[in-house]
Amino acid sequence: MTRPFDGAITKFFEDTVPENVRDAIENAHKDDILNPNYPHQKRMKRKHYEEDLEKLQIELVKMQAWAHETGQRIAIVFEGRDAAGKGGTISRFRTNLNPRVANVVALSKPTDTESSQWYFQRYIQHLPSGGRITFFDRSWYNRAVVEHVFGFCEVRQRTAFFKQVNDFEKLITGDGVKLFKFWLNVGRAEQLRRMLKRESDPLKQWKLSWIDVEGLGKWEEYTKAIAETFQKTHTHHAPWTVVRSDDKKRARLNAIRSVLNELSYTGKDVHNIGKIDRQVLGGPDIWN
Ligand code: ADP
Ligand code: AMP
Ligand code: MLT
Repeated sequence: MTRPFDGAITKFFEDTVPENVRDAIENAHKDDILNPNYPHQKRMKRKHYEEDLEKLQIELVKMQAWAHETGQRIAIVFEGRDAAGKGGTISRFRTNLNPRVANVVALSKPTDTESSQWYFQRYIQHLPSGGRITFFDRSWYNRAVVEHVFGFCEVRQRTAFFKQVNDFEKLITGDGVKLFKFWLNVGRAEQLRRMLKRESDPLKQWKLSWIDVEGLGKWEEYTKAIAETFQKTHTHHAPWTVVRSDDKKRARLNAIRSVLNELSYTGKDVHNIGKIDRQVLGGPDIWN
């Protein structure tokens, strides 16, 4: 079997992870959540997940109709460590939505032209127009976290970012854009498990990049950058919502619930939405 990056993920795993932890990761029952701090011991049952998800899809479709008819502008930012589940969560939001209404923005690294611009410039053109829901798979927060951890930006550029970002978001939300900022939080063991899976599964290999490989050794640097980001950018007008994502199913359901809860769309049925699990989704205080 060909493995991307010459099996660098497996090598990292074998070289740096203590044997007892490796055993735990490799031999965990498929239902077990590897993070002992996770509020649930077992992953959610697929049957319950699918039932809940279907009701939420019905609400999302109503929300879409309302957004379209009343010209709402909705921007939903997804951030998180590598393999936190950003792409998968976005795709569950969009399963039954119209791709022309609900689009994804996943920008690649900036071109030379973009690098010469004001940092926020290339994101601004992707903010939603009336009647649109835009999902950002990574966002302007790249500068606060991944660019900093990898040295793609200078410290003074990051400082400038922190000086500007709260005003930037205040301008957007003040103009009426409904902005959601999700931080998907994945634990170390689950991240490694997902990376190993990506390496061995031909359908998932495309998700791996050298950033993921190199990033595996930068856990602590990420932790520090993330903590600073919450401290500086968790504001009243644009708060962070943290979703504990070791269990992808609970993460997806609760993220969808929290968006629906915030919006007053026509025909809203709170019974379909169900209750948010406050141990899975909350503010930066549940991040660790
Ligand atoms: P993803 O996890 O989003 O699939 P990667 O892990 O490859 O993608 O990269 C993480 C982020 O870092 C992406 O948003 C990418 O655009 C950004 N990035 C990669 N290289 C650079 C660079 N040289 N300068 C700035 N940003 C970069
Ligand atoms: P430590 O035992 O904390 O010195 O960690 C050594 C290395 O083991 C870390 O760099 C991680 O790669 C890995 N590691 C530590 N704790 C865990 C964990 N709970 N799950 C997975 N890997 C871990
Ligand atoms: C994810 O699944 O978290 C992202 O979409 C991909 C990644 O950053 O590895």
